[in-house]
Amino acid sequence: MSRKRILFDTDPGVDDAMALLLALASPEIEVIGVTTVFGNSTIAATTRNALNLLHFAERADIPVARGAARPMVLPLQRTAEHVHGDDAMGNIGWHDVLDPNLKPIEVPAAQFIAETIMAHPGAITLLAVGPLTNLALALQLEPRIVQAVREVVIMGGSVSMPGNVSPVAEANIHADPHAAAMVFNAGFPLTMVGLDVTMQVKMDDNDFARLRAAGRFGKFVAQIAPFYQEAHRRRYGYPNGQIDTHDPSAMAYVIDPTLFEGEHWSVVVATEGPAQGMTIADRRRRFLDTPPVNCLMRVDAPRVAQLIVERLASV
Ligand code: RIB
Ligand code: CA
Repeated sequence: MSRKRILFDTDPGVDDAMALLLALASPEIEVIGVTTVFGNSTIAATTRNALNLLHFAERADIPVARGAARPMVLPLQRTAEHVHGDDAMGNIGWHDVLDPNLKPIEVPAAQFIAETIMAHPGAITLLAVGPLTNLALALQLEPRIVQAVREVVIMGGSVSMPGNVSPVAEANIHADPHAAAMVFNAGFPLTMVGLDVTMQVKMDDNDFARLRAAGRFGKFVAQIAPFYQEAHRRRYGYPNGQIDTHDPSAMAYVIDPTLFEGEHWSVVVATEGPAQGMTIADRRRRFLDTPPVNCLMRVDAPRVAQLIVERLASV
């Protein structure tokens, strides 16, 4: 089996951590680099967490490139420690790098993304599960990445679900709507793994109990989950420790796209006002002429949840 080579652009984050460990536990995937972005916390914290996660997973050989500290146009509006904990890792006390030798590479994330994609034409899948700032900056640096990338998959946006940070906006798109607008307009072979599917795939107390009794990855995920579970209970009233599996579901799509179905629609992003960050899909295919995006709308939720839990329990 030839493995998909992925660049993972992320703002870890509890669900980002789950997605990264899921990738590292999956034989279909080769993670060739991790790039960090502000989002769930500051760039200092998300970069520290990326380094610590790879150290914990005994994969410190995977390069980490530090990325954007703020959106392209707007000021930094909010981070999400109320959802992910003060350390953005479920309050497990990750306030420092675990090993002083852990460092990001010298090259900034946008340059690393552009150079890596251009060095391997047609081979790289870019999976972005945070604000899209690094990818938009990479596009400015090297527009030919649109043709050279194999596929871009993003966790972000929504076609038919209400927003999770405003009535209409999903967090990653809301955090840097100008970057998202650039990415949606660029013509990438683009798949949007939005709230339409990620809020259908739940994990709950039973899954975390199973992970707690499993190996290193499982135990770690069970350790970082409780704060995130409590945030879901407070925000949505979910029972039984249920969570939405945003970033792991996006990784599951990269692992096995047959578990999802999408529709190709043009999508535009509102950049300001009360609709900031809203992803507007032309479901009648009549009104917009921007490049079509594969918007995932249906998912085999039990099988995706099973894939996530079984893989995380396997290491
Ligand atoms: O809206 C959910 C997304 O926002 C996830 O990627 C989460 O990690 C945060 O970045
Ligand atoms: Ca994320």
